[in-house]
Formats: sequence, structure tokens, C-alpha cells
Amino acid sequence: MKDMSDFITAFGPASIGNAGVGFDMLGLALAGAGDRVLARRTNGDRVTVSEVRGLDGELHPYLSTNADENTASIAAQALWDAHGDGGGVELKVHKGIPLQSGMGSSAASAVAGAVATNALLRTPLKIEALLPYALEGEKYASGGVHADNVAPSLFGGLVLCPAVLLPEVIQLPTPAGVSVVLLHPDLLVNTAESRRALPKSVSMKLWLEQQGLLAGFIHACETDNIDLMGKTLRDVVIEPHRKGNVVCFDDVVAAASKTGALGCTLSGSGPSIFALCKDPDARNVASAMEQACRVQGIGCQSWVSAMNAPGAFVESQL
Ligand code: HSE
Repeated sequence: MKDMSDFITAFGPASIGNAGVGFDMLGLALAGAGDRVLARRTNGDRVTVSEVRGLDGELHPYLSTNADENTASIAAQALWDAHGDGGGVELKVHKGIPLQSGMGSSAASAVAGAVATNALLRTPLKIEALLPYALEGEKYASGGVHADNVAPSLFGGLVLCPAVLLPEVIQLPTPAGVSVVLLHPDLLVNTAESRRALPKSVSMKLWLEQQGLLAGFIHACETDNIDLMGKTLRDVVIEPHRKGNVVCFDDVVAAASKTGALGCTLSGSGPSIFALCKDPDARNVASAMEQACRVQGIGCQSWVSAMNAPGAFVESQL
């Protein structure tokens, strides 16, 4: 039991769903971008959203304050229903991640909503216990249960979260000296639609190939084997169906590879594209990826992050 705090601000970082090689079950946190949720107790009886602000600090033009339609409040309500002690909660959601960007925007809001609301509880839960509540929010946005954005946003770093193990997840070690570069082209991809467009079955040949890549990639992370990491950061199953949504994809990948990236593929359902590279190459890789995108007339932004970026946290508690 703790003293009651009245005003909480929590941060949920962006994330790279699939981490390229593990569709729906591997994810990577990204430093430098994320959503903030401010929470306070009210005399009401449920979770409400009083404002949603966009990247420019203005009221968000698309996201509504309907608490049944916002991933932050859906996650917060699920937690409050299970552990709240009466009264309501008001949330303000400040988006720091572009929508439909492949950067785990809906997951970051859900995670920040759960973390902020948790800090209002008389006896807050451990961070591990928040996963199922954050997942409720993510489920609303993406139309399926996959924790590959929510889990890294909550815990940080590289997380293995196959549905068969949920709510248990496995935090994997990350090799020293490897950076993540993420390029966000100014394009939109709706994750739910992109998931519906995927084929419902996959050949034995591709399934075996991808299993080998995933196993090899995890082993590479566990043994600091950067060479093996480069050989295994590939997606032979999902990427071929999605890369057509991102017109600059092939050129960006080629630019990353020419500047020394270990591997480069889609982040989540795209349009963002991420690369892993040795630390000293990261800035060059980022500018080459940006340039390859801009020459096609597509605006973009890039981030360079450590592979073990921190997860969500309470920023302030008054
Ligand atoms: N695993 C999800 C997908 C991530 O690829 O559809 C979405 O960010």
C-alpha cells in the first residue's frame, strides 16, 4: 500500500513489431519516440478521456475521446475493472508516435494508459502483471491478440512473446555494439487491414525457412554473434506480401545494405523500415535510408536507438 498520488504521467515507447524475423511474436523497443498518458482520479465511475493531442500538441484531428475507442482508456478500464477501488479515472493522451506508422502507436498508448492507471492504484501491480490489460487496448486497434508491440513497449529491449506463452514473455539479451535504425516514410498502413490481406496459409518450405531464421536470430542474440544476426534478420513469409505498400522499400533496403546494415526489413506492418547495424555505422545507415526515401519524393524521419531501449515508466507522480 502506498500514499495515494493524484496526478500521474506515464510514457510508453514506440516499438518494432515482428523485429523482422518473428511475425507476431518478437518485438523490439525503440528509444526516442513514444506516447504519454496523464491520469488522475475522478468522482466518476469509469475511465474517461478528456483530450487526445497529436504530435503538434494540438487536439488530435482523428483520434476520438470516446473511451471505448481509445487503446489507452480500453487498457486502463480493463485494469480498473479488475483492481480499481472505486471512483473513476480521467486520461489525457499525448501522442508522440505517428498513427499507422508501423511504430506500435496504438500499443504505446495502451501501455502508457495501463502504467499511468496502475500508479493510481492503492497497491500498484508489478509491471509484468500489466501485460494482459495493455493487450486489451492493442486488441481493439489491430483486431488480433499479438504482444509483439505491447510487450517491448512495456518491458523494453527485445522480447519474445508467442501467443501460446502469453501472458508469459521472454526478454532476450541483445548483443553489445548493435544499434537499431528506424525510418518512417510519410505513408500510412492500417495494421488491421494489412493483417486481413495476408494469406491464411503458408507452404511447408517457407515455414521451415522462417523457423530456421527465427531460431538462428535468437541464438545470435544470446551468443553476441553479430555475423549470424546479419544472416538471419530476414522475413521470407510476410515481407513479400507487404512491401508493395511501401513504394520506397526496395531502395531503402538497398541503401541500408550498401552502408553496412546487418539486415533491413519492415517494422510491424510498415510503412516504417528498420535496420540493425554496428554502432559506428548507425548514422550513415540512417542518412542513406532517408536519402533513398526522399529521392522518391516521400518525406521521412529516422531514429537511431540502442537495441536494449528502456520500456514504459512513470515520468511523474504528484
Ligand atoms: N505483428 C503485427 C503485424 C505487428 O505484423 O501485423 C503490427 O505492428
